[in-house]
Amino acid sequence: MLKNTFIFVLALSVWIDNSIGVQVTISNVVQRRDINGTIMDIHDGNMLLYDGLYYYYGASYGLCKEPPGPTGCTEWHTGGCGFQLNHNVSLYTSTNLMNWTFAGYAFQMSTMKNPGILFSPRVIRNYQTRKWVMWFNFLPATGTGVSQSQNAVAISDTPQGPFQLVTEKVTTLAWKNTGDLNLFQDDNGDAYIIYTSHIDGSMYNPTHLMSVEKLSSDYLSSLGKQYNSGFFGQNFVEAPAMFKRHDTYYAVFGQCCCYCAEGSAVTVYTSSSPLGPYKTTANIGNEGHAQQSSVLKYRTSTGDGNGYLWQGNRWQSSPDGAKGHDFTYWSPMTFDQDGNVTYMNYTASFILDVTTNN
Ligand SMILES: *[C@@H]1O[C@H](CO)[C@@H](O)[C@H](O)[C@H]1NC(C)=O
Ligand SMILES: *[C@@H]1O[C@H](CO)[C@@H](O)[C@H](O)[C@H]1NC(C)=O
Ligand SMILES: *[C@@H]1O[C@H](CO)[C@@H](O)[C@H](O)[C@H]1NC(C)=O
Ligand SMILES: *[C@@H]1O[C@H](CO)[C@@H](O)[C@H](O)[C@H]1NC(C)=O
Ligand SMILES: *[C@@H]1O[C@H](CO)[C@@H](O)[C@H](O)[C@H]1NC(C)=O
Repeated sequence: MLKNTFIFVLALSVWIDNSIGVQVTISNVVQRRDINGTIMDIHDGNMLLYDGLYYYYGASYGLCKEPPGPTGCTEWHTGGCGFQLNHNVSLYTSTNLMNWTFAGYAFQMSTMKNPGILFSPRVIRNYQTRKWVMWFNFLPATGTGVSQSQNAVAISDTPQGPFQLVTEKVTTLAWKNTGDLNLFQDDNGDAYIIYTSHIDGSMYNPTHLMSVEKLSSDYLSSLGKQYNSGFFGQNFVEAPAMFKRHDTYYAVFGQCCCYCAEGSAVTVYTSSSPLGPYKTTANIGNEGHAQQSSVLKYRTSTGDGNGYLWQGNRWQSSPDGAKGHDFTYWSPMTFDQDGNVTYMNYTASFILDVTTNN
């Protein structure tokens, strides 16, 4: 009995020692650097928590000089800054969301037989196949811009990669001309893609619409129209994210903003099911002048143990003009008693309570 109690107390103290809360300060005005002091070249990606470590994946644009002006899309052609054929996927890791270690390129464009332009890489881990799965928006170099936009999938046994290409064009999606995307993994292991589709291809009558679709159980393809939410929300939207809080599914996205300095106001849609129907619940503004990249569910010692961190890109913000040095803007998300996301006021810096394992 005494021995059992002793073991129990020992186990409890190990459990307590293993999980500590830290208060980290996150700045939006000082450029984010890794622990070596290098500016983090990581954009339009996602983060996930696995085994006590946060994995941060995103597009690396390098040091090409951005075109001047309010949008980086004035040079919208293959080879223009932001549209080059050498975007890799950076990986940084952290235990506390503050101190980041560069873990190399998880995916390198040079490994593709037919290179193209890569945007919006997103990674989740499949607990059944134990594979790490990456989806990204892909514009083949031989294509003609937006009419050739498609989604590619790559896979790896480890989070560091290198991820190997599975397909450069997913053909199972309900809609064609697919653009920005994000991935969402439900508590039961089902996963979903939220993505835009440019359905008429006209520059003058842009129909750029959002929908959610369930992925196959290996996450390497999707299940098509029968498992698609149908279009919802506003027209001419992009840069989506999805998350779940309590029993509510949130789909969050804003107006198209092609590398725009202004950023994009974000509308929140909610549903009791991942495939909808979604209803519009809030507009959380654009005070940070950023375009959303993702929403991270992180561990915290307050509330029910989960916190939500909004992350966006401040295009055209780089002090030295190098695209890879554009700022990212992060903000804590808050919720009212009905679960509505509260308007996101501007924050230059904030303190986050993060629970870490070591
Ligand atoms: C991507 O990685 C390759 C090495 O494989 C490197 O030569 C290239 O400069 C990288 N691209 C960027 C944008 O940094
Ligand atoms: C991050 O690293 C700095 C410099 O090494 C250190 O002072 C700080 O305590 C670290 N932050 C956390 C939360 O570990
Ligand atoms: C960071 O700096 C250390 C010490 O100089 C070096 O050994 C390491 O390779 C650097 N890591 C990266 C990812 O640059
Ligand atoms: C939450 O949003 C819904 C829909 O917009 C609204 O009816 C409700 O009053 C909001 N709740 C609060 C506490 O403001
Ligand atoms: C945002 O600012 C308004 C006005 O100052 C304030 O009433 C509100 O509580 C703030 N919201 C949050 C989430 O801090």
